[in-house]
Amino acid sequence: MLTVNFILADGSRRAVQIAPGRTVKEAAEDNLIRGILALCGGSCTCGTCHVYVGEQWAARFAPPSIDEDALLDGAAAERRDTSRLSCQLPLAEDMDGIMVTVPDQQQ
Ligand code: FES
Repeated sequence: MLTVNFILADGSRRAVQIAPGRTVKEAAEDNLIRGILALCGGSCTCGTCHVYVGEQWAARFAPPSIDEDALLDGAAAERRDTSRLSCQLPLAEDMDGIMVTVPDQQQ
């Protein structure tokens, strides 16, 4: 198991546990993290699972696909360099302690 640290839009923090190989979106859903809607269920078609990945962690993931990149361009909250769709972020065992910030809006 590894820990994912979520920083919510109101500034509060939640640390949750998840098995390697699952996604940041699944970590949020399984633990009822507020602010990640994930309306398409993880098929990279809705853009409502937007997160900001901690800077030191962002490069650990494969770059966004063309579809993810397009959805991030249309995200409701500001797009930043570390913006990703959490359904596209599988967690590796060595990502224990990753920090993820939830934006203030998803749609
Ligand atoms: S859950 Fe819809 S794009 Fe991630």
